[in-house]
Amino acid sequence: MNAPRQASQAVELTGVRNLVAVASGKGGVGKSTVALGLALALKREGAKVGLLDADIYGPSQGSMLGVTEGHRPKTLDGRRFEPMQALGLQCMSMSFLASERTPMVWRAPMATSALRQLLSQTAWHDLDLLIVDMPPGTGDIQLTMAQSAPVSGAVIVTTPQDLALIDARKGIEMFRKVEIPVLGVVENMSVFACPSCGKEHSLFGEGGGQLLAAEYAAPLLARLPLIPGLGEGLAAQDGAAATQFAQAAKTLLASLSGVASTLAPTITIQDD
Ligand SMILES: Nc1ncnc2c1ncn2[C@@H]1O[C@H](COP(=O)(O)OP(=O)(O)O)[C@@H](O)[C@H]1O
Ligand SMILES: [Mg+2]
Repeated sequence: MNAPRQASQAVELTGVRNLVAVASGKGGVGKSTVALGLALALKREGAKVGLLDADIYGPSQGSMLGVTEGHRPKTLDGRRFEPMQALGLQCMSMSFLASERTPMVWRAPMATSALRQLLSQTAWHDLDLLIVDMPPGTGDIQLTMAQSAPVSGAVIVTTPQDLALIDARKGIEMFRKVEIPVLGVVENMSVFACPSCGKEHSLFGEGGGQLLAAEYAAPLLARLPLIPGLGEGLAAQDGAAATQFAQAAKTLLASLSGVASTLAPTITIQDD
């Protein structure tokens, strides 16, 4: 059964032409790393890019972007936040608003409301793309994003092994239920290039990303090797990671040109 996007729940989003969610079914597969790497590569392709960390309970973009604690976004008119600028991206994250030592102990309705606010009460400036780093799983926050935000499409991150693929499928199905296209799959931690023997080792199985991409008729955007320090943001800007992200960014931009801009979101209203 489809769960169409509801008009009453719609999040109003201005200053953003395309919103792309980077998601998976579970944590630790590299969503945040891929979201940042992709955002930086898209910027290098000439797009104006923003990055929203939608992981309300475990935001990680603050430290990945090098925004140190205590740097808070300015408020514009007592209502909207000015996005933080980091590495040439317009950014927003719960980590800019809370201290690293303050765990979020909100119940789901408060967390979803926080996400809606981060999305709609940030003064995004003329963005071609807003990349949303999604939290793990398919719970309330993910549903809020999928159902009420004008998402152009999703990029699914998976590791090559079977268990991660099962979770990735769940992530994909959630977007499909609300008719959000899968724009591509990124296989992360594909291989480890051993610095001493020079050989590539498939530590977590092989071919998973390709399989998933084929299953959902979506392009395999990138196969990212294990690269020590990749999570530190700037490492994504050179070497093997940069090449992969550049390719992913090009393919993504091409796919997006085929997707109607969603700022007039497809809202289906059902009588039930
Ligand atoms: N290709 C990679 N090579 C090396 N480390 C990686 C790679 N991808 C992710 N990591 C590391 O794995 C951990 C989890 O990645 P993260 O992007 O935070 O995952 P998620 O957002 O899915 O929870 C982080 O410490 C990150 O730096
Ligand atoms: Mg994350």
